[in-house]
Amino acid sequence: MGKLLLTSSQVSIAISSFIIVSFTFLLFLAGYILQQQSLEQLHATLRPQQPSPRHNSNPVPTIEYTNSRSRLSRPLGRLQEQIHWHEPKAFDWSKLAHAQLATGPEQLCHALILFHELHRLRSPAPKLLLFPKSWVEERESGQEVPERNGDLDISLRMLKKASRQYGTILVPVSPVEKGANVTEPSSYSLASIFSLTRYDRIMVLPSPSLVLNARPLDSILAYFSLSTLSAYPPLSQASPSMLLIAPSKETYSSLAARKPFHKSDMELLRAEFPNSEPLLVETDPDFKPTLYKTVEQVRAPLAVGERFNATAFSESTAFMQLDDTQLPGAQYDVPYQKIVDLRPKDEDQGFVWEKMYSTYKDRRYRVCGMDLIDWPNDGEKMELK
Ligand SMILES: *[C@@H]1O[C@H](CO)[C@@H](O)[C@H](O)[C@H]1NC(C)=O
Ligand SMILES: *[C@@H]1O[C@H](CO)[C@@H](O)[C@H](O)[C@H]1NC(C)=O
Repeated sequence: MGKLLLTSSQVSIAISSFIIVSFTFLLFLAGYILQQQSLEQLHATLRPQQPSPRHNSNPVPTIEYTNSRSRLSRPLGRLQEQIHWHEPKAFDWSKLAHAQLATGPEQLCHALILFHELHRLRSPAPKLLLFPKSWVEERESGQEVPERNGDLDISLRMLKKASRQYGTILVPVSPVEKGANVTEPSSYSLASIFSLTRYDRIMVLPSPSLVLNARPLDSILAYFSLSTLSAYPPLSQASPSMLLIAPSKETYSSLAARKPFHKSDMELLRAEFPNSEPLLVETDPDFKPTLYKTVEQVRAPLAVGERFNATAFSESTAFMQLDDTQLPGAQYDVPYQKIVDLRPKDEDQGFVWEKMYSTYKDRRYRVCGMDLIDWPNDGEKMELK
């Protein structure tokens, strides 16, 4: 019988080597697990945001593996299924879209900013940009109206940018009314969106505006059930509304017939839908009116002793309409004294309020290549052409 005699120093070397090897392995394992986790987080951050389903929507059906011979039913298969990260089943966006109508450079810039924001916030919904078909026809036939050449150049450049950088689908449209003047911007109407019947639902955000959080808006688009049109604020109010539209041939014909009697789109829609369904209501668990705010609401005076909660504000707000009855519009360069006069006293509130304007100004410059328009001298709220 061979003897294996070890000296105490050999034993201690063996033990410490064992300890070192095991700890090195544990360290490696911990590092590996951490790396896998951060990779998963990276994947999660990079993939387009899925809409969050409504609270009361049907539960996602689970798949049962009944075939006992299938790989997944074996114990190892089950284990693999638990370990491996699964790509969530992609939501089908093909019949849903965000849309904007633009009949000139100003509106085109508003639309471009909205699409830029949706793109930046990784909204997966298709984006449609409706514009007068005559722009392309004029350019191709060479029958351009000389004084509009500059505008046409700017417009076509922005259309290209929308298509190339934000993956926007360009939709040339004709006036809804037969025989209308194709070079007159007011001949075009949001009514055209009702004719896009290959889509189930289309969302039209009012402008100028900013999207602060695309996810709730995409969820409305994905899960709100409606008959033909839903709006918030209701159409009866003066300010332009966020619209959700279910395109339909009948509604389109009816709107086209009404168009000669109503110049503005809001008037036209009000006449067609005197009792439209509200898009956001306090009682809805998901789609609450707090999602939509105007810059005027942001600077509304607080109650005595109340503090503006910037965290709560950014958590609840998804869409910011840059509309204020005291100011002519975010596209105008507001004199500094006016800002000082209107700026809320609360520090955080004032910061958020100013930030909305400065963000818009920055986007206008970087996205559209346009500067702010000079402040109208009379200080009155001006209507855009
Ligand atoms: C069409 O509208 C444009 C721009 O408003 C105007 O200059 C032109 O004269 C109009 N053409 C006709 C035929 O009315
Ligand atoms: C602000 O709102 C957040 C989220 O709603 C809340 O957790 C926090 O306590 C509020 N802060 C203050 C000072 O009220």
